[in-house]
Amino acid sequence: MIAFGRSLGLTGDELRQGGIGGLLHDIGKMKVPDEVLNKPGRLTDAEFDLIKQHPGDGHSVLLETDGIGPVPLDITRHHHERLDGSGYPDKLAGDAISSMARMAAIVDVYDAITADRCYHKGLPAAEALRKMWEWSTNHFDQKLLQAFMRCVGIYPVGSLVRLESGRLGVVIEQNDNSLLTPRLRVFFSTKSNGYIKPEVVDLGRKLGSGGGDRIVSAEVPDKWGVDPQRFLLVDA
Ligand SMILES: [Fe+2]
Repeated sequence: MIAFGRSLGLTGDELRQGGIGGLLHDIGKMKVPDEVLNKPGRLTDAEFDLIKQHPGDGHSVLLETDGIGPVPLDITRHHHERLDGSGYPDKLAGDAISSMARMAAIVDVYDAITADRCYHKGLPAAEALRKMWEWSTNHFDQKLLQAFMRCVGIYPVGSLVRLESGRLGVVIEQNDNSLLTPRLRVFFSTKSNGYIKPEVVDLGRKLGSGGGDRIVSAEVPDKWGVDPQRFLLVDA
C-alpha cells in the first residue's frame, strides 16, 4: 500500500495513513471463527455472510481505538466495495468509494491471489495482474489498476528470475526507465546447481558497471528449491 501510494505521488502523513489502513484493514477478521477463515473448501452462504461482517466489525473496533484517523477507518470499512456496487458491506458504487479504498481493494486482492493459502496456491505475479485486469471493468478502478501494474512491474520485487548467464536472482528494485531491467541480487548458479556469493546486478547498466546480463525467464522458486525472500533484504 505504501509502495503503491508512493508511486502515485502521495507523501508524508497521507502515505502513512494509507499504510496504517493497509496494516489494519482486516482486523475485523478476528471476530470470524477460525474454522470459517481457514476452511479449505467452498464456503456456504451462511459462512460467507460471517466473512462479510469483517469490514464493519473492524471499523467498529477501530472506532473504539484511540488515535485511528479517518483514512484507516475508511480503508477498513470499504476495502471490499466494488465500483459496480456489488461489493460489501455498504454496496457503495463509483465515486462513493474513496481513492484510498479503491487502492486498498487492488492491493488486497493482489495479495490474496498471489499468496499461498490453505485453500489455494498463490498465482505468479503476472498471472495475478492479468486476472485482475479481466475483472477490472466491474471491480476495480482501471486507472489505479494500471498504476498498480506499473508499480509492481513485470518482474515484481521479491520474485525469482533466471539470467542469460545462468544465474538466479531476486528482484530487489524496479528500474524507473524500463520494467524489463530491474535491480537484482543474484545468489544461485543453475550451471553448478549451487549457491554463489550474493551480488547486486543492475540490469539497467552495462557489463563492467554492475550490469551486462539479461532476464530470460521468471522462475518458480520450488523448481530450484530456493527461497528468494531470504536474499531480498540482506545487504550483499
Ligand atoms: Fe478484507
